[in-house]
Amino acid sequence: MTLLPGSTIGMLGGGQLGRMFTVAARTLGYRVLILEPDFHSPAAQLSDDHIIAAYDDEVALTAFGQRCDVITTEFENIPAQTLEFLAQFCPVRPSAHAVKMAQDRIVEKEFVRACGLQPVPFAAIHTAADIAAAPHSIQFPAILKTARMGYDGKGQVTVHSVAEAQAAFAQLHGVACVLEQRMELEREISVILARSVGGEVRCFPVAENEHHNGILHQSIVPARIDAALAAAAQAAATRMADKLEFVGVMAVEFFVTRQGELLINEMAPRTHNSGHYTLDACITSQFEQQVRMVCELPFGATDLLSPVVMVNMLGDLWHDAQPNWLALLQSTNTKLHLYGKHEARPGRKMGHYCTLTPQLDDALTEAAHIFQQLQ
Ligand SMILES: Nc1ncnc2c1ncn2[C@@H]1O[C@H](COP(=O)(O)OP(=O)(O)O)[C@@H](O)[C@H]1O
Ligand SMILES: [Mg+2]
Repeated sequence: MTLLPGSTIGMLGGGQLGRMFTVAARTLGYRVLILEPDFHSPAAQLSDDHIIAAYDDEVALTAFGQRCDVITTEFENIPAQTLEFLAQFCPVRPSAHAVKMAQDRIVEKEFVRACGLQPVPFAAIHTAADIAAAPHSIQFPAILKTARMGYDGKGQVTVHSVAEAQAAFAQLHGVACVLEQRMELEREISVILARSVGGEVRCFPVAENEHHNGILHQSIVPARIDAALAAAAQAAATRMADKLEFVGVMAVEFFVTRQGELLINEMAPRTHNSGHYTLDACITSQFEQQVRMVCELPFGATDLLSPVVMVNMLGDLWHDAQPNWLALLQSTNTKLHLYGKHEARPGRKMGHYCTLTPQLDDALTEAAHIFQQLQ
């Protein structure tokens, strides 16, 4: 059933993705109710109301569920039981099943294979003996990654031998991991897509992503790849969404190797940092599209209006004072987005900006110049 403006959308999680969703939803006339344990949250500053509770607090979840017409999420590590519990009150989009698939790297990579797609060569690691056997399937150097709860490069150690991998595994307290071959990358790209209750899919233009220290630094759109590779990435992401019967907005991150292979890195069952460019450069943003999908509205067009470079601003830029905002705001074709976080910490995503120019190279030069002045 279509939920029209005036309906209440419940959002699990109160980070910046929830905040930008909230703006999009309220712009369209929806009410937004956030459930998030932290009192200070970027999304709750702008929402209609905020329930401060843990994600497993069934009394709070009941109160939340009873007030919502539909529930969605911005946080992929929401316990699957929470989503299942909430489904008794109203539709939960995406489903617990789809979210669960992205919560464990081992499950996720097996799912990628089941879709007929190629993950990065990996070995599932449950014991030190699994590491000793790994050289059969992967080569060093490799990256040991915790199977669960990793983000922004956290829970990852680069290792050069079985002995180093075993030491790193012990350091990670022997939790389940994947040992992934470290690939020589030509570039990284991502696809953000939306899938409707009826099973239709629309992809946003492919983004090219540069990471620093495992954290996204900038997204460049359109990606500097040929049309066939872009189409292959969109087809792969669509296949994954279909197989999950996904409803909402999701993202797939890819590696393009020096040999030209397209490998799946990981997926996210939610809007994605590499899709922030859509806020300023597309007819419909990824956040408006999420509102449209969960409320069973038609798709918004995903056309790119201008080449764009999106740059993340991490807490590192704050030092002891505010960054040089005027240097950024002097650029008449750059859009600033700040997330309202009270404390700047190294590696913490505080905001981003998008620079738009008719020629992509000009946006790259200007965005880099601004970044230099912000430091
Ligand atoms: N196997 C790999 N080979 C080469 N680079 C990698 C590999 N795994 C991760 N990276 C680099 O680290 C970044 C973050 O890793 P990712 O697995 O996406 O973790 P997270 O969940 O923290 O985003 C990637 O975008 C890429 O730049
Ligand atoms: Mg990633």
